[in-house]
Amino acid sequence: MPAPLRICHIASEYSPLAKTGGLADVVGALCRHLHGRGHEVRAFLPLYAQLNTAGIRMSAVDGLQGLELMLGTHRYEYSVMEARASDSGPAVHLIDCPALFHRRGLYTADPDEHLRFLLLTRAALECCRQLNFAPHILHCHDWHAAFAPLYLHSLYADERLFAATRTVLTLHNIGYQGIMPAAALSDLDLGAAAAMLHQPDLQAGTINPLRHGILYADMLTTVSPTHAREICTPEYGMGMDELLRSRSDALLGILNGIDAQEWNPATDHYLPHRYDALNMGGKALNKQALLARLKLQPAPAAPLLGIVSRMARQKGFELLFEPLPRLLEEQDVRVAVLGNGEALYEEFFTGLQTRFPGRAAFHRGYHEELAHQIEAGSDMFLMPSLYEPCGLNQMYSLRYGTVPIIRRTGGLADSVQHFDPARGKGTGVVFNDYDTPAVMWALDTALGWYREPALWQRMVANGMGQDFSWERQGSLYLQLYQGLLRSSRDRA
Ligand code: ADP
Ligand code: GLC
Repeated sequence: MPAPLRICHIASEYSPLAKTGGLADVVGALCRHLHGRGHEVRAFLPLYAQLNTAGIRMSAVDGLQGLELMLGTHRYEYSVMEARASDSGPAVHLIDCPALFHRRGLYTADPDEHLRFLLLTRAALECCRQLNFAPHILHCHDWHAAFAPLYLHSLYADERLFAATRTVLTLHNIGYQGIMPAAALSDLDLGAAAAMLHQPDLQAGTINPLRHGILYADMLTTVSPTHAREICTPEYGMGMDELLRSRSDALLGILNGIDAQEWNPATDHYLPHRYDALNMGGKALNKQALLARLKLQPAPAAPLLGIVSRMARQKGFELLFEPLPRLLEEQDVRVAVLGNGEALYEEFFTGLQTRFPGRAAFHRGYHEELAHQIEAGSDMFLMPSLYEPCGLNQMYSLRYGTVPIIRRTGGLADSVQHFDPARGKGTGVVFNDYDTPAVMWALDTALGWYREPALWQRMVANGMGQDFSWERQGSLYLQLYQGLLRSSRDRA
């Protein structure tokens, strides 16, 4: 048994405290897993106005109250609160700086957006100092924490506490890079180390936080092996592909796990009826309850298609603009959609509900309970993503006996295998091309199999038998951490 590690995570989301998407689920579950394996984990997160504190114990951290931090000429005061969901959980340190974190949402388009996450990053490093916590691993998530590795090489280069710290940056979503104007350079407080910034960007008038994470982290990960290959191509690299190719030795894809307690149909407290693979009666009852809740016409034989998602271009909903209305016109199906985001997609789903009353329902907004009920009550779950670093809902669907219909990209490709009716192998319906005919084909294929209960039950059972637990995926992160520490010892 290797010695316990000290691991520091910096992230903008952490489930259940603050969540807009899968980042929260993954950071929260990974921290709990590492803590459960005996490692000393400290996670740093902003104390947003929207913090979900139900069932959480909060306490002020001694010695970390009324602190001051300058970012360039901006002076901020902050304190640190500790949040614990249970005695056996990891410590989450919340950076309480109302001037920056009490806003309309977790993310903003305000001119000081970069300062909000620079403060998170700097405060996390300062708190490690104050707490005399010398992390073996500093694990940063997405652009929000991406300056931390550069800071260790510059502002904190002489800090003894971080002398042996190795850094990991996980790219959950390379589509968001946090680009800020070059005029904000002084907010970084780099002094002469400003020379370490990417000069062509600066000359073009911008600073790209994510790029600097990719440049300076010791290891880079993304959240599936397929996406790790994809982001090295111009098609998926969002302008980072050349840099990522140059760092391909340091880039690894680790498929996300799912929180097997939170997402378990046998114990899920959001469900009116619980069930498991050997006792599927509850699933049919959940479908009835969901139809009733969403005011959809009852029809046990009609398949119910579910969607739960942020409504962003990434999710590929354009592809449904033609096929879904056509499907609703031609066949007896039900559609249940939950999500919010860009107006284009919200308007499409609102229009669908108006045009097909009683057969299509759209709940606009964010709703934890309904998300679980759609996973459990639907027969099929649609994810036609343009790109998908990992995606969690297809894994939740598999666990809940709901057949995912997905495009073969990123983590969707790594977690769902196209069903082969002849051999009875596979877990879902997988299409390749990002176009309307491909989606039509996938929907027709799914509906065809749905009409053959023996085939359908086989596919459902295959899906429910998959293991996406953190027990497996967490070990891969630990191997990565231990490999990093070994290589630095070998070099010393
Ligand atoms: P992404 O992080 O790109 O949004 P993921 O599939 O990794 O995609 O994770 C999405 C997570 O957010 C899932 O846990 C999903 O259930 C949840 N989610 C997304 N939209 C909503 C919503 N409107 N209401 C409740 N949960 C949602
Ligand atoms: C991102 C990605 C999603 C991934 C999640 C957690 O938001 O869009 O595919 O599952 O992060 O890693």
